[in-house]
Amino acid sequence: MKKQELQTPAILLDMDILERNIRTYQEACNRGGKSLWPMIKTHKSAELAKMQLDAGAEGFLCGTLDECEMLCRLGAKRIMYAYPTANPANIRRFIALEKQTELIIRLDSYEAAALLQAEAEKEGVTVPYTVIVDMGFHRFGILPGSLAVFVQKLSALKNLKFLGISTHPGQVYGAASRAEVEAAAKLERDTMKAAAAELAAAGFPPEIVSSGSTPTFLSAAEDDTINTLHPGNYTFFDAIQIALGSAMEKDCALRVFATIIAHPSADRFLCDAGSKCLGLDQGAHGSTSIKGYGRIVGHPELTLAGLSEEVGKILVSGTTDLKIGDTIEIIPNHSCSSANNTSFYTAVRGDEVVGAIPVDARENSIHREIG
Ligand SMILES: Cc1ncc(COP(=O)(O)O)c(C=O)c1O
Repeated sequence: MKKQELQTPAILLDMDILERNIRTYQEACNRGGKSLWPMIKTHKSAELAKMQLDAGAEGFLCGTLDECEMLCRLGAKRIMYAYPTANPANIRRFIALEKQTELIIRLDSYEAAALLQAEAEKEGVTVPYTVIVDMGFHRFGILPGSLAVFVQKLSALKNLKFLGISTHPGQVYGAASRAEVEAAAKLERDTMKAAAAELAAAGFPPEIVSSGSTPTFLSAAEDDTINTLHPGNYTFFDAIQIALGSAMEKDCALRVFATIIAHPSADRFLCDAGSKCLGLDQGAHGSTSIKGYGRIVGHPELTLAGLSEEVGKILVSGTTDLKIGDTIEIIPNHSCSSANNTSFYTAVRGDEVVGAIPVDARENSIHREIG
């Protein structure tokens, strides 16, 4: 079947581009002697995680417990959950998984650690953890200078085992220039170096020094201290990564395929893909370098200026040959959001449709508690 025969909207995944992205990032890790543990919140798919494993990934980072469970079923050996747990039902679910695989948690408070310790002790398991270091993103994290005291305090919790330190340079998504991206990458390296030194000096040398973001990946892959990398978005890339200089249009594997369904005025067209396909992201943390709600491939004269749920509003500047019935491909601003909006990817190789790939660990796609 050809792509042009598909119904729209469809979330296309170009397998040739995807395979190249997985290979390129794996090879950079291999060259730098790093362990690649991709963040899988981007794709939430067992089939894609398996491709990453086959390419050489040694572990994974997850944003949800659904993702941890999916990887556990897949037989992945080292799984890290990116955030602390504090809700009793979540803690029980985490500990139940801990009995089946090595599941590492990230912590940044004594309170969350103590809640986890209580359940771990009750169930007779040991939970390995890394400490979240705040490298200036000011989301989670302990500031360098307070890390040794924190790890010392947690060492009283006998069912927790210190493994190392982790961070995420999320502020890079607010960068307005390549120089600002590079400054964030340098801060990531410098902060983790200081954090590792502080802990080693206090008698807690970190086995894992982990960090991850797609825009800072290449810099971290060449660093002396960071040994484990967690890029996520690199599998698909998107318009935000193009704006930050981390990717080009040819690297973007995920695209929304849509049809032009109306042309109400000379400068306005409507397509059949809206926020329920594309998401409303205009930059995760406030990027101003993004124009509109996605990039329409091959049409620099078009701006996707507005989205309602199932409809996209396209404005023309200058002239265009677009007409009702034409199909377009849109590179989403944030591909992770588009991926979370579909139950399957339509896999393509160029113009050929080659299959459907389930997105099997989507947020709230499985209910497990209500009878
Ligand atoms: C904690 C953490 N690590 C890694 C990543 C991956 O970053 P990116 O999507 O830039 O590759 C994210 C993304 O949000 C994250 O929250």
